Amino acid sequence: MVDSGGHAFRRRVAHVLEAGIGHETIATVVNVGLVVLIVANVLAFAAGTVPDIQARYGWALTVFERASVHIFAIEYALRVWSAVELPLLRGEPGWRARLHHATRPMQIVDLMSFLPSLLEPFVPFDLDAFRVLRLLRFLRIARYSAAMQSLGHVLAAERSALLGALVIMLTVMFFAATGIYLLERDVQPKAFGTVPDAMWWAVVTLATVGYGDTVPVTALGKVWGALVIFAGLCVFALPIGIIATGFAQEIQKRNFVVTWALVSRVPIFAGLDAASAAQVMSLLKSEIYEEGDVIVHKGDPGSSMYFVATGSVIVELETGDVQLGEGDFFGEMALLDRKPRSHTVVAGSSRTRVLVLDRDDFERLGRRMPDVVRRIREVAEARRAASPPQI
Ligand code: CMP
Repeated sequence: MVDSGGHAFRRRVAHVLEAGIGHETIATVVNVGLVVLIVANVLAFAAGTVPDIQARYGWALTVFERASVHIFAIEYALRVWSAVELPLLRGEPGWRARLHHATRPMQIVDLMSFLPSLLEPFVPFDLDAFRVLRLLRFLRIARYSAAMQSLGHVLAAERSALLGALVIMLTVMFFAATGIYLLERDVQPKAFGTVPDAMWWAVVTLATVGYGDTVPVTALGKVWGALVIFAGLCVFALPIGIIATGFAQEIQKRNFVVTWALVSRVPIFAGLDAASAAQVMSLLKSEIYEEGDVIVHKGDPGSSMYFVATGSVIVELETGDVQLGEGDFFGEMALLDRKPRSHTVVAGSSRTRVLVLDRDDFERLGRRMPDVVRRIREVAEARRAASPPQI
């Protein structure tokens, strides 16, 4: 089946919007443009609250706001429309794929960041809350930042540990407030007359911020205050430690050490003797991708090839998708032919681990183990015959 013009265009739109920065030129231009627009929007929002600027340039800020809202609305509509072309949604009927996509957290953030502003001229009342929603636009930068995505993964993965830390924090806070209430309610009835009143002091002291608006005045109250400060140091260290450790692990996972157990999953390496196996291991790097992540992008220059160690990948051929599993390899054509990538390849399952062989190391491998490279070349010939590259 060959793509009709409309489908090819839709697929192209999906690629340009999802490919992100650093792939082909058009995707980079579009995505960098969107990031600049998002940042400019947040700056304009802040500038608009300064009376002088508002008086002089208010009209320009309004024009910019209206234009931005329309651009974001068009981008949103294009993302939802082209969602049917995303590898993970491709099997679903059009409306279901789009609904699936539209209910993803990132898409909801996108929608909320422009919809209230878009509707503002049509609602008779003026809501400040609508304006605050504009700040959601800044959250959209997360789409473009691998670090923010890693943070999102960490928060999701560590949610039960973080919930535990929150329960401990709330308990300690209640304890601190009750203690100061018992010790100082008679001396300072205004600040510590009730436990809810004392909560403010407890939060400020536990966080070791100490605004100094309410302070204990009795000797025992001060001792209690000192204990609460120490407890605060320990309790606040908990969530910070959980997030920092999770973040470090997440980053490390991206650069996983290659072991023989991983290399032996690839049939063309399985029969190697110990010395050759050690050589291969030293040439390979390991990377982990999440389901749907683009690993190689059609048209990009190729500087490495990949072996699937765990999980699977999807090669997006013109004739339909082909799934490659453990032990298969891809990305060899660009190295052998010195041409751009012939097709896009995306991760087909979560935590897909691939072993990466860079061009220089591929050539080194060819010199040391010509048989291995001959096998790779044969597979590439067969693939080229099955689906001739169209670029
Ligand atoms: P490369 O052109 O570097 O990047 C895209 C990859 O898709 C390509 O190398 C091959 O590894 C892979 N590929 C191309 N055609 C096929 C096919 N018919 N079957 C499986 N994989 C393919």
